[in-house]
Amino acid sequence: MKAIVAGTGIDKDRRFYENMSTVETEYGSVEYSVIDGILYLPRHKPGHSLLPHMINYKANVKALKMLGVDEVITVYAVGSITRRLSPGRIGLVRDFLDFTTGRKNTFSDEDPAIRHTPLVQPFDLKLSERIARCAADMSIPLSYGRIVYVTTNGPRFETAAEIEAFRVLGADVVGMTLATEAELLAEQGIRNAAIAYSINWAAGLDAEGFSFLEDESIERIADSIISMSVSALSSDF
Ligand code: HPA
Repeated sequence: MKAIVAGTGIDKDRRFYENMSTVETEYGSVEYSVIDGILYLPRHKPGHSLLPHMINYKANVKALKMLGVDEVITVYAVGSITRRLSPGRIGLVRDFLDFTTGRKNTFSDEDPAIRHTPLVQPFDLKLSERIARCAADMSIPLSYGRIVYVTTNGPRFETAAEIEAFRVLGADVVGMTLATEAELLAEQGIRNAAIAYSINWAAGLDAEGFSFLEDESIERIADSIISMSVSALSSDF
C-alpha cells in the first residue's frame, strides 16, 4: 500500500476525509481514508486540530506500518529561508536539521530491536525521482535535490535571529513537523519522499512584514502536489 501524509493546506482536500476509517495502535487511534488504493492521512487529525508539537507522530507512523504501507509521500507547508524555494514554489527535500525538543521520536523504547537508525540518506531517491518525472510530465515546476528543511519545535514562529542562524547552518526552509515524522518512518523502514511548498518568507526576510500566501494560491498548489503524488505512487517506471 502507498500513502500520502499531509498537513497545512493540503489536508483540506476532500480525499483526506472521504469514507474515513479508524485504526487502533498502541499509541492511540488514527483516522485515514483510502481512495483508489492510496491511503490519505491528515497528520494534524481531521479538522486540523493538533498543533505540530501535539501531533501523535508515533501513532500515525505505526498506523501506516500496521496497514501495510511501504512507501509514503509526506507533504509540508514551510517558510522560505533561501531562494532555493521561494514562496509559492514546490520542492523535494534532500535533508533535514532537527531542532525539536522533548518529542516522542523513537520506537526504541518499546522495541529493543530498534537501535541506531542511519539517516545519511533520509529520503528515498527512486521515489523522489518518480515524483520529479511526474511533475515534469505535468509541467509543474519543482525544485529537486538541494533543499534542507530545519524543524523547529513550535508552535511559535521563529525570531529573525534564529532564522539567520538556521541559514548559516545550511537550512533552506523551516517548518515544525518533518524531522519527527522522517525519523519514525526511517525506524519503521517505510520509504519516504518529502515534498515542501513554501507559504511565506521566514521571520525577518520580508521587508513588507510576516505574511502568508492567499488561500486560493495554496489550494492551487495543493492540487498540483496531490496530482503529482498520486501519479508518482501509481506509476512503476
Ligand atoms: N516557520 C515555521 N513553520 C512554518 C513557517 C515558518 O515560517 N511557515 C510554514 N510553516
